[in-house]
Amino acid sequence: MKCLLVYGTLSGSTMTAAELAAAELRTAGHEVDVIGVEEASREKLASYGALIVASPSWEDQGKDGQPLPEVRKFLETVTSEDLKDKKVALMGLGDTSYPHYCGAIDIMEEMLKKISVTPIVTSLRVDRYYSLRENEDNVKTWAAGLGKSLAS
Ligand SMILES: Cc1cc2nc3c(=O)[nH]c(=O)nc-3n(C[C@H](O)[C@H](O)[C@H](O)COP(=O)(O)O)c2cc1C
Repeated sequence: MKCLLVYGTLSGSTMTAAELAAAELRTAGHEVDVIGVEEASREKLASYGALIVASPSWEDQGKDGQPLPEVRKFLETVTSEDLKDKKVALMGLGDTSYPHYCGAIDIMEEMLKKISVTPIVTSLRVDRYYSLRENEDNVKTWAAGLGKSLAS
């Protein structure tokens, strides 16, 4: 399946995790384009069968556990019509030392729910991507599962 993976990042780990997930999906036979959220638009979705959105959780407007503002803005523009017949999945990077661990996932799931979209697999939540060695395996395992769901 042709997939668009849109990531937001401040310090780079979500981009690295997104590329890792994309490589795993390609191994599973999917075609994946990875773009930064600054390049994303709802018009770009038309030629894809799946959308994967990846965001870290950060503080925004005084609240912790938020998606990056650019990711929020992108998702705010997407309509149920844009995602009709498309498969959607979410990747979140965070840190369990923060009170609202991977809160961006909860917010992005809520935003999708408002347009009647449910992710096809359990959203990925990654704790301290760079400091925990097993996280690369966690991302690969999640992407392998997503790859299977996209194929079925
Ligand atoms: C100022 C700041 C605020 C953060 N807030 C949260 C948070 O509320 N919840 C969470 O799970 N992680 C939080 N994190 C952790 C980041 O989401 C995590 O380090 C992530 O891997 C960063 O991704 P990036 O490198 O793609 O920007 C925060 C990190 C910083 C530096």
